[in-house]
Amino acid sequence: MASPHDFGIAGLLGWPVAHSRSPVIHNHWLAQYGIAGRYVLFAVPPEKLEQAVRGLSVLGLRGCNVTTPHKQAIFPLLNRVDDLARRIGAVNTVVVEKDGTLTGFNNDGNGFIQSLRDADPNWRPDSGPILVLGAGGASRAVVASLAAQGAKEIRVTNRTEDKAREIADAVGSAVKVVPWDKREEALAGVAMLANATSLGSTGKPALEISLDRLPKGAIVGDLIYVPPETPLLADARARGHITVNGLGLLLNQARPAFNAWFGVMPEITPALRAAIAATF
Ligand code: ATR
Repeated sequence: MASPHDFGIAGLLGWPVAHSRSPVIHNHWLAQYGIAGRYVLFAVPPEKLEQAVRGLSVLGLRGCNVTTPHKQAIFPLLNRVDDLARRIGAVNTVVVEKDGTLTGFNNDGNGFIQSLRDADPNWRPDSGPILVLGAGGASRAVVASLAAQGAKEIRVTNRTEDKAREIADAVGSAVKVVPWDKREEALAGVAMLANATSLGSTGKPALEISLDRLPKGAIVGDLIYVPPETPLLADARARGHITVNGLGLLLNQARPAFNAWFGVMPEITPALRAAIAATF
């Protein structure tokens, strides 16, 4: 007998959700792999999160992504949360298990690391010191994932230094907090620089940092993807560095989620990149 849920549904819980590119990604893969299903946006206000999450299993959803402002609030509504998501303190992916229970993951940091490795196969998290600018949620996902993947020294600098300290406390001794006004000195010897601030995104001021001290072979990543090339990435590229924007994170975090929901580990093809580019 066919399962009542052969048509696979997954979606995004957020508030707001309208600008998300996730439907383009997952619906592209559903079509590519001939899987009957749909990825939908669910605009869920904070006071309705509990009802929405309780409904996932009864409505037959395979799972969902979670975005602002629900990434922390969802913790007590899940049956289990994996270790990395716990260390990050945020969930971005929920899987509805066969028995209807809910498991939370966070693939954001690993997605970013994967996109760096795709761009520079010689770079690994343990290749050398890393400098991460910013200490918000995105930074925390990246820093915790880098540490979990073997990074030995992650320098974290943030305008509000206390938030960098909180990341150091949560992630452990690989994290060294650097004062915001010492960020240029902290470029010395790094193998990777990542911008996890919102500076450089459309409508925000550019990040102020001279890359004079950045070692030649260092790879430079920016979690921003609007615009696709921030002033930081343009400067780094002009200096000969390999650069990666935040689209790689978006695409790579989606792969394990799709696999968990629909049973296929999907590929990031030029056609998918073109479908995303068409949304800008
Ligand atoms: P996200 O969830 O994307 O990480 P966030 O939590 O709002 O977003 O974090 C934004 C980051 O950009 C923070 O590190 C923030 O620094 P503060 O913690 O000091 O606020 C950083 N940021 C935003 N505007 C900034 C500015 N004008 N100068 C320096 N850092 C800035």
